[in-house]
Amino acid sequence: MDFAALLASKRSGAALSEGEVLDFMGAYVEGILEDADAEALLRAIFEHGMEEAELACWTDAMLRSGSVLARGEGGPARVDKHSTGGVGDKVSIPLAPAVAACGARVPMISGRGLGHTGGTLDKLESIPGFRTELTEERLSAILDDTGMVFAAQTPQLVPADRKLYSLRDATGLVASIPLIASSIMSKKLAEGLDGLVLDVKFGSGAFLPDPEQGAELARTMISLGRRLGVRTTALLTSMDQPLGAACGHAVEIVESLDCLAGGGPDDLAALVRLCGGEMLLHAGLVASAAEGGERIATALEDGSARDVLRRVIEAQGGDPRCVDDSSLLPAAPDVEHIEAPVDGTLHFTDTSAVGRAVLELGGGRRERTDEVDMAVGVRWRRKGGERVQRGDRIVEVHHRGGAGLERACALLGDALEIGDPCEQPALVLERIGD
Ligand code: URA
Repeated sequence: MDFAALLASKRSGAALSEGEVLDFMGAYVEGILEDADAEALLRAIFEHGMEEAELACWTDAMLRSGSVLARGEGGPARVDKHSTGGVGDKVSIPLAPAVAACGARVPMISGRGLGHTGGTLDKLESIPGFRTELTEERLSAILDDTGMVFAAQTPQLVPADRKLYSLRDATGLVASIPLIASSIMSKKLAEGLDGLVLDVKFGSGAFLPDPEQGAELARTMISLGRRLGVRTTALLTSMDQPLGAACGHAVEIVESLDCLAGGGPDDLAALVRLCGGEMLLHAGLVASAAEGGERIATALEDGSARDVLRRVIEAQGGDPRCVDDSSLLPAAPDVEHIEAPVDGTLHFTDTSAVGRAVLELGGGRRERTDEVDMAVGVRWRRKGGERVQRGDRIVEVHHRGGAGLERACALLGDALEIGDPCEQPALVLERIGD
């Protein structure tokens, strides 16, 4: 490979050919090319973007840098959901068991939290004994036995993304739509999926606050899914206030269990039904996403989704009694209440500050190696758009002996405003895809 010529061509704005993409990816993953070479190419991609066919080759080369989850001939369809991440986003936890209870397979490979958004795996690990670091063999066996699995990325899946993502993270090259889309889609496609739903968040708690940018990312990932043979749709959803009422680890598991019992906050239940409806449609189990949503609601109400979760928790080393008794989950020893200082209507002005408040309490990571306190968090007693009176309790802060409490309360104060009534953003702005 003539890397200098390849780089010069991309720097001039030309698209990489399939051969160039394959040569680069192979040489970088094997360590023949240095990080400095890859950084130069990523920088050129960051500046010039990628054409559709070029991006599909790039994503496919990332995907083929490792193994793809094995699957036999026939059998139930495999579907998954990916969220771009938000504050209080626990949708995957009730969603995956509900979709599995309806007959599809859900290989839910998720990430850990970093910064102001929490990770699904960390939340699940607040269930005593629950393990998410599984071998590929164990992951596949649990998926076959229970219909779903909650697992961390294995070292064999998409090694190219592991190298490229940490390089992008270290060099300020994360915020590029083709690089984000290829990173997410290569990992999802390595699950051997038939269908995928993308929950692309926008608003003050989202990774991309601007809905236009969210829609562009969604369209790019949908086009990649189509080119690479996976039915893909996206929901563009609001992160202008936290999803549900709880933000933290164990507190979000409690809320997920409420949702699995057919209750829980309305916005969480609505998003679980919407994403689940799309997943069942991709799986070919229903004729419309609306019918799929009804099937999901039934699985939550009749206990079948909870049965799946009990089996998954047991298979992954956790205590399945938690599904019926949330007092077995970690709880913070102290609770502080924040009261409304004036009468008015509650608005969230900076949802990311809620995530940062949980981080201050010890319930998040600044560095990948940080320990997380599973018990701390916050629970809203009021939602955006609700009228409150001076002295009403609006948020509970679950803390450990006051650690980080002052800074967390200041951030929670920054996150909201109490003023005149004004319209709240709809939960779903747009559905993108056929
Ligand atoms: N999440 C990913 O997996 N990759 C990115 O590049 C950004 C967010």
